[in-house]
Amino acid sequence: MHRYKKAFAEEISKILKCDMDQLNSMIKVPESDRGDLSIPCFPFAKEMKQSPAKIAADTALAISKNPIFEKVTAEGPYINATISSCHIIENIINEIRAAGDKFATSQKGAGKSVVLDFSSPNIAKPLGFHHLRSTMIGNSLALIHEAMGYDVTRINFLGDWGKTFGLLAEVFNRKGDKTRLENEGISYLLELYIEANKLKESDPDFDDAARLMFKKQEDGDESAMELWQLIRDISLNEFKLIYKRLNVDFDFYEGESFYRNGMDEIIEEIDKSAGTRIDQGALVVDMPYSDGEPPMMLKKSDGATLYATRDIAAAKDRWNRFHFEKALYVVGSEQKRHFTQLKQALGAMGNSWEDKIHHVTFGRIHGMSTRKGNVVFLNEVLDEAVSRVFEKMSEDSSRTSIDIEKVSKEVGIGGIVFGDLKNLRISDYNFDWNEVLNTKGFTGIGVQYAHARCCSILNKGGGAPQIGNVDFSLLTAPEEIALVKDIARIPGAVEEAEKELEPSKLARALYEVAKTWNRYQQTGNSDKSLRIIAEDINLKDARLALVDAVRISLKKGLELLGVTAPDAM
Ligand code: ARG
Repeated sequence: MHRYKKAFAEEISKILKCDMDQLNSMIKVPESDRGDLSIPCFPFAKEMKQSPAKIAADTALAISKNPIFEKVTAEGPYINATISSCHIIENIINEIRAAGDKFATSQKGAGKSVVLDFSSPNIAKPLGFHHLRSTMIGNSLALIHEAMGYDVTRINFLGDWGKTFGLLAEVFNRKGDKTRLENEGISYLLELYIEANKLKESDPDFDDAARLMFKKQEDGDESAMELWQLIRDISLNEFKLIYKRLNVDFDFYEGESFYRNGMDEIIEEIDKSAGTRIDQGALVVDMPYSDGEPPMMLKKSDGATLYATRDIAAAKDRWNRFHFEKALYVVGSEQKRHFTQLKQALGAMGNSWEDKIHHVTFGRIHGMSTRKGNVVFLNEVLDEAVSRVFEKMSEDSSRTSIDIEKVSKEVGIGGIVFGDLKNLRISDYNFDWNEVLNTKGFTGIGVQYAHARCCSILNKGGGAPQIGNVDFSLLTAPEEIALVKDIARIPGAVEEAEKELEPSKLARALYEVAKTWNRYQQTGNSDKSLRIIAEDINLKDARLALVDAVRISLKKGLELLGVTAPDAM
């Protein structure tokens, strides 16, 4: 739009003596039935000794000769101009193609830092399907902020410290098998975990022993720490395999244990600033609480520190290191109170930056079961998605030239991820295999498929023409204009997603492009004059340039959601 505004101002300045800056500030975007650009003429009346309406009429007539404008009219004292759609089309398509994989990126966040705390599972248990949400919403928000020029730091705040690991170590020391631990990894840890919880119920001594064990860990006892380290390593290795499948990366795995040695210091600091008090034997933050609200606990009566204590220490540390513009914690809504209290406590300690902390909550996933049964591990869901796609693709013999194994991974996992991100973040959603893996509709596969079609048509047509060599006045079909308008909306959707911390905005915009693209294709199937690979070479080039722009925008959009777009499927 900027370019047209400039052209409009230039035309006007030729006739009405006025400087460009002033004109630029006077030109507005009117309601759409009055064109694309509008300027009032009263300010010129005095000097020109003419009525504003007369000035508008004369000027409009003169400007209407410029082919950039489809229509320039005077409406009372206003000049209204409509930009020719051919020029808009040309501009948008050329801009997208020139940007390539930089499309929809900007420097709006340059120089500002964003810290994202996401995924952050507890160790010693396999990742469950529900971990998908924090992991992929966080990943997409990281990618979107990066695309807008922010300096992004990804932190995985593992739940790797606390009494649970005392329980686990105690049960391992009593009946554990090191060989099994090394061979079976996290599934054996889960077995031990279940066993520990049973013992906690049945053996009254066990709980005390576990507490002692955690105390040993907190005191840095060598053998206790060695076992803890082994449990952590096994868990983290397993997590990393899944993150790799999902194409998710972290700058730091700084879990709760990272702050274990700073507990006395942070408690002292809280005590000196906000204040602390004893509540039913526990040490809590002294700040206003509402009626019946459990206070924020820093230390239990046995002296053990807690999740909240470590989160306060972590927030301070992150502020000192990154001076963030935003610190985003992508964590389920069940921790709402925790984060409200975290912010309140930081505020009570005198940290004015607490308002830069945002708890990015999300709803639950319902209705999930896999072929294997009810305990739903993330890895198994991904396996099943990939194998379902693989089976489907293998049935189709026309796919011989495709690397089905690779593509079914991209499509299966992409389908699950998109199926998650397309929902409004705070809503619960229902998982349905048929919906996730449907090639039609608001699905990842649907969008991936639209992208692959673009690639195959470009291939068939001998590739896209060079930028600048295209006659865009040939693109006149309503389907073509609609498609251009849809792809032009993607950068705005990325910005909205960033502002509202809502990747679904982008998912929705991509779906609109895919939908319009499908309509264009279908019309082309029945109406020969709309075939993309037209006989007329200029027409073919104009259409292939459009297809190329659609391809680029779908690929980039999916990439910002953390979904790979295969070229063929
Ligand atoms: N480990 C926690 C859990 O699984 C989530 C941690 C979220 N991040 C944080 N800084 N509190 O519930």
